[in-house]
Amino acid sequence: MSDAYILGIESSCDETAAAVVRTGEEIVSNVVFSQIATHQPYGGVVPELASREHLRAILPVVRKALADAGQTYQSVDAFAVTQGPGLAGSLLVGISYAKALAFALDKPLIAVNHLEGHIHAVLLEERQKGNRELTFPVLALVVSGGHTHLFLARRHKSGWTYENIGHTRDDAAGEAFDKVAKLLGLGYPGGPIIEKLSQHGATSAIKFPPSQIKHADRRTKKNESSREENARFDFSYSGLKTAILRHVETHGMQPSIDARRKALAGILEPKLEQYLALCDRQTLDLIASFQLAIVNDLTSKTLAAARSYDVATLFVTGGVAANGALRARFEHDAALDGLPVYFPSRPLSTDNAAMIAAAAYPKFLANDFAATDFSAEAGMILK
Ligand code: KG4
Ligand code: ZN
Repeated sequence: MSDAYILGIESSCDETAAAVVRTGEEIVSNVVFSQIATHQPYGGVVPELASREHLRAILPVVRKALADAGQTYQSVDAFAVTQGPGLAGSLLVGISYAKALAFALDKPLIAVNHLEGHIHAVLLEERQKGNRELTFPVLALVVSGGHTHLFLARRHKSGWTYENIGHTRDDAAGEAFDKVAKLLGLGYPGGPIIEKLSQHGATSAIKFPPSQIKHADRRTKKNESSREENARFDFSYSGLKTAILRHVETHGMQPSIDARRKALAGILEPKLEQYLALCDRQTLDLIASFQLAIVNDLTSKTLAAARSYDVATLFVTGGVAANGALRARFEHDAALDGLPVYFPSRPLSTDNAAMIAAAAYPKFLANDFAATDFSAEAGMILK
């Protein structure tokens, strides 16, 4: 079959993105417009503002993705768009635009689950590198601002299926990074700055107990077999967040946090040295210990699941997979188990549309196109 060019569109959260991917294996263009500056003053994504920003950005972002790829609306073979999960109003901007394109140009439209996109970011880049050696089944940890999910990914003749074997019971890991950063007056998003500051603190300074899933949450439903119950590998980060809050209170850290928040609010794009000048040893140690607690939890649970399900390969993907300490630990620990582990490159770890176009390719081959009346699914499940 000849090459197929798919234009992917992603607007599920605070990035407006478009990309052209050839035959599910080459990123021809990849444009990401981040709304971070819009949401920064609020310390998190404001859904209403996100939708408006998507509306503003979608046309120039798509035009740039086509121009960078040397393609036109007419020349691409299909359009793909994120259906969910995500913010409903934000998803609707991408979906409405993609539907209009598909209708006007009489081309196929493919609806993609955002989480499937994160998994295909890894597959896309491995294919792009020429790696045809991946062995299955794959266990994928999707770890982002909205999700901490473990999926067994299986490839079939007509596409892919996914089985969720664990998820967070409360906060996602990225959400914990963001909330702790906010709590410590470090601004939004939390992950990248916590990663940088962690390198200046002692990871062993504070011992946080491993996260525990409350017994009530683990109750076996009547029709749920004990095998399924035992096989779940769930995560929980709200306890860790509360432990940080308690540490801040008992160590009288609030005045210095308030001072830091105020000082950083007055700096447009603070540099690492400016953050460091505003963080004392106690704060840096707390940040480093927090990051280690998350890294420990994510790696130990994922590897336990990998052993239990006897998987052949590990993927770690989503915004938090950009974290260098997490990557290093996964590489080290997976090697002890003789398990190959793959990550997307850093730009493809966080939200982008190349992963959406890549996930759409097997559906394109299977003629699995979206119905004309499909809509956003904020809580869309991957299966
Ligand atoms: O995948 P993503 O771009 O959007 C969602 O689908 O949620 O992930 C964003 C999340 C944010 O919570 C952000 O703090 C986190 O990923 N993140 C990181 C790093 N870079 C982004 N967390 C830890 N370390 C990083 N370097
Ligand atoms: Zn994402």
